[in-house]
Amino acid sequence: MTLDQRLNKILIVDFGSQFTQLIARRIRELGVFSEIVSHKKVKIKKISECTKGIILSGGPLNVYEIKKYSFNKKIIEKGIPVLGICFGHQILSKLNGGKVKQSKHREFGLANIYKKKDSLLTKNFFRKKKNNKVWMSHADQVSKLPKNFRVIASSQNSKFAIVENRFKKFYGVQFHPEVTHTDNGKKLISNFIFLICKIKKNWSSKDQKIKLIKEIKKQVGDKKIICALSGGVDSSVVAQLLNKAVGKNLYCIFVNTGLLRKNEEKEVVETFKKKLKINLIYVNAEKEFLNKLKDISNPEKKRKIIGNLFIKIFERYAKKIRNVEYLAQGTLYPDLIESKSVTGSQTSKIKSHHNVGGLPKKMKLKLVEPLRFLFKDEVRNLGLELNLNTKIISRHPFPGPGLAIRMPGNVTKEKINILKEADFYFIQALKKNGLYNKIWQAYAALLPVKTVGVMGDNRTYEYLCLLRAITSEDGMTADFFKFDKIFLQSISNKIVNSIRGINRVVYDITSKPPSTIELE
Ligand code: XMP
Repeated sequence: MTLDQRLNKILIVDFGSQFTQLIARRIRELGVFSEIVSHKKVKIKKISECTKGIILSGGPLNVYEIKKYSFNKKIIEKGIPVLGICFGHQILSKLNGGKVKQSKHREFGLANIYKKKDSLLTKNFFRKKKNNKVWMSHADQVSKLPKNFRVIASSQNSKFAIVENRFKKFYGVQFHPEVTHTDNGKKLISNFIFLICKIKKNWSSKDQKIKLIKEIKKQVGDKKIICALSGGVDSSVVAQLLNKAVGKNLYCIFVNTGLLRKNEEKEVVETFKKKLKINLIYVNAEKEFLNKLKDISNPEKKRKIIGNLFIKIFERYAKKIRNVEYLAQGTLYPDLIESKSVTGSQTSKIKSHHNVGGLPKKMKLKLVEPLRFLFKDEVRNLGLELNLNTKIISRHPFPGPGLAIRMPGNVTKEKINILKEADFYFIQALKKNGLYNKIWQAYAALLPVKTVGVMGDNRTYEYLCLLRAITSEDGMTADFFKFDKIFLQSISNKIVNSIRGINRVVYDITSKPPSTIELE
């Protein structure tokens, strides 16, 4: 995919800020394509006419540690408007002859800034009293402005909170407009891209759909392409895009591992084969998975067995189809950023088990990754544009190894059946009570201990069911969801009364870290 080279865009030069992705998201929310490139990788030759504005991000660096932040000054000399944010503001000032030094008072958190002058950048940005709360996070600050720059706003500790050189279209802000804590921050970004860069909207779900389908058609032509469909949001959107682009040359392979949620295999076949008329190969490998997992209780062994068997089955079916040239994957933009392949940034690599990129490499297929420029929320909107129903779009994430990693200890058919029921009742209750969409991920797990209970006049000795429900932005950190007592009581009653095999329910109240979302 070469989407980035043909679309007008705002280029974000990343200096390692934890908020860089947020800048890109805000611009895209405003309907404009934006792309992140590391300060180490940005090439002057690659800045084409499509780049209508440049944003220099924040970062942990110091402008005088030149070796650490290699950056070609010529990039800001191309006559393209530039907005520097925090470190970006400092480097922009320094490159223009200003000075930066350590702040007397470091500012972390909210600060008030006061308007000094009018500017296109701050049109309708300030509230009535001409001051706004903004989010600061800096130890250094600009101490001397370059020539031809003027002050637009100041805070108590940052005289140069907003500055501009109107003639060169250079703008600098010491705070972070991309963070929601900043009053009206999005307005400031909107002013920069629309009033100053004069870029036109080009990034709606409809635009994306049309462009991506065209791209896929061009890339794949009349060759065959396979796609592993899990029924999750990303693979569902990829499948539907490919279906629209190449139709019968798409072969989706859905493997029923026997470790799926209740009725999941039926729902996937119903949706994709019957409703969407996608060329779907349904593989029932339940027995194969159960056999391989027999007596295995080590979490990593379980994961490896499941992963390897999945590849084997996938390859088996891919061979049967014959003459396949392409493999589709649901890689998202944050995966690219985190794997450093796009930005070369310092952010740490995602866990290997989340990364399906390694799976069928040895099959020597060419990769098609239509979602590689999209964030998760964009994928969801694209899914709606592609007529996928909201049930698929708003589904909680589900791990590849499925229920096997939600039952510590060995995996048996009996346990799977009990767990499917418990999970089903829990999720149903969340939906009935309007809680499902407030929660990022929820599930039931079965713990490998039996405890004593009493039902009627009889003693019971059955499994312990653990419920987990978390809120999160991206799954990297999480907090437990605060249910009220009545809800917990009613779901506990429902599970214990309806399912033979469970006589006790507990609710997991640990966050991540120190726990993880899944149990294994
Ligand atoms: P953890 O347990 O690492 O999970 O806190 C974070 C998120 O990742 C999901 N997860 C997986 N997803 N394959 C996947 O596709 C896996 O092997 C896998 N393991 C964990 C988990 O459900 C949560 O959303």
